[in-house]
Amino acid sequence: MPCVVTVGGFYGDEGKGKIVAYMSIKDNLDIAVRGGVGPNAGHTFVQSGKEYKVRMLPSAVLNSTTRLLIGAGVLVEPTILQNEIQAFNSTDRTFIDFQCGIIDRTHQDSDKNTEHLQKTIGTTGSGTGPANAERALRNIKLAKDVPEIALYLEDVSNSINHSIDNGEKVLIEGTQGTFLSLFHGTYPFVTSKDVTASAICSDVGVGPKKVDDVLIVFKSYVTRVGEGPLNCEITLEQAREKNWLEFGSVTGRQRRSAPFDFDLAKKAIQINSATQIALTKLDVLYPQAKGKREFSSLPGEAKDFISNIESETGLPVTIIGTGAEIMDTIDRR
Ligand code: IMP
Ligand code: MG
Repeated sequence: MPCVVTVGGFYGDEGKGKIVAYMSIKDNLDIAVRGGVGPNAGHTFVQSGKEYKVRMLPSAVLNSTTRLLIGAGVLVEPTILQNEIQAFNSTDRTFIDFQCGIIDRTHQDSDKNTEHLQKTIGTTGSGTGPANAERALRNIKLAKDVPEIALYLEDVSNSINHSIDNGEKVLIEGTQGTFLSLFHGTYPFVTSKDVTASAICSDVGVGPKKVDDVLIVFKSYVTRVGEGPLNCEITLEQAREKNWLEFGSVTGRQRRSAPFDFDLAKKAIQINSATQIALTKLDVLYPQAKGKREFSSLPGEAKDFISNIESETGLPVTIIGTGAEIMDTIDRR
């Protein structure tokens, strides 16, 4: 795996954080670089019963030898970033592009206080939409203008491209999900940028010919937080019975839910030119799958579900999540 990009196949919250955290350890990544919008995304992972969340750093923080980069297309909130660097003791392995846009208080206030954004769209309120609007107007402050983070700045695209050329293991981490894309999602109920694989690569400054695999992450059911269409949405009561009820990791809002959607999955695979599937939370659909680390020990129904996804989409399901723990994973790569 010299260069892999991970991308969300539904509406975000597919469990990308866990998959990236797993790969950072299993594959001993040299570099994990975050693309996507910014601190509106919260990626969660669990190791030895302890839960971790990142909103700025890549989800590879638990491997202390993996370099942690943030691409120029990602918006940075300096306080959140500095807190995470401190929490993960990653000062000497964190690198931020000079040209990342900076989120400030005015962006956050405007995100939280604009009725259109808060009520109609249901944004995370993290300031990313107003900051990207300002970037488009070419007024936003860049990382190179902020002394507190000067220590971490570098030309991220240059370092990733060198690493790829030297055969190092590079993972490009996407955030949000395909149908939250400003261009390909359910507009206007979307985030403030394109977040498909091409855009994630563009965020970090890697061209399409340098990517070896596009790993699309699907959860075993679909969730959505905020407003916008959700096909075959079930009621809160039904979601509770199925154990599908989840809460947003950035906002704490209750997520809406629906069964796995094959039409959405196929469209997402097409738009992202996905080559492999990671499927998360299989144990929520099939409790007997919990904690399994071998495909052969999965219950028959769970195996059928996976075969069905493979035959419908034509792609292999190579990584399967069977629990919150990073290592509760079946790896068929
Ligand atoms: P914004 O990105 O904060 O502007 O929010 C726009 C829409 O995208 C809202 O429906 C949010 O709930 C959703 N959204 C943004 N980031 C994420 C994410 O990381 N996971 C899930 N939903 C997200
Ligand atoms: Mg999330």
